[in-house]
Amino acid sequence: MTVDLEVNDRRVVRDVPARTLLVHLLRDILGLTGTHVGCDTTQCGACTVELDGVAVKSCTVLAAQADGCSIRTIEGISSDDESGLDRVQRAFWDKHGLQCGFCTPGMVMAVRQLLRDNPAPTEDEVRRGIDGNLCRCTGYQNIVVAALHAARTGTGEERRVSS
Ligand code: FES
Ligand code: FES
Repeated sequence: MTVDLEVNDRRVVRDVPARTLLVHLLRDILGLTGTHVGCDTTQCGACTVELDGVAVKSCTVLAAQADGCSIRTIEGISSDDESGLDRVQRAFWDKHGLQCGFCTPGMVMAVRQLLRDNPAPTEDEVRRGIDGNLCRCTGYQNIVVAALHAARTGTGEERRVSS
């Protein structure tokens, strides 16, 4: 079947098997390997992307379901400051919110969603907000610190750029 969607501000049209998952379209067909696969069973959140502005686990979405939609991956977020990082990425950098980095793209997308929903979360709200994303390395402490830091340093919606 043919899917026609927008990925990081670029139109994408591809013929794919009907069973193709969105995460596999992104990684294997489009080469956007910043979106990770940790489980394939909706447990880990490593595959989190934004579908029409809402964070989703892309291993639970068929590419066909994304037909006509707008997808944003970790490669498609940025800012116009000199770091080129959006505020959540910058906060993870500044507060060492990662170790191996495997969970990080999904965590960043989950925290972006959290801050859209709740721009000034408490620590408990951050912990609840990221509870669909697993990290095997950090013990979550610095991820929570980074999310709270991102909330404090937020200046509104990040600029969206083409990958
Ligand atoms: Fe999608 Fe783990 S790979 S939730
Ligand atoms: Fe390694 Fe989170 S930093 S899984």
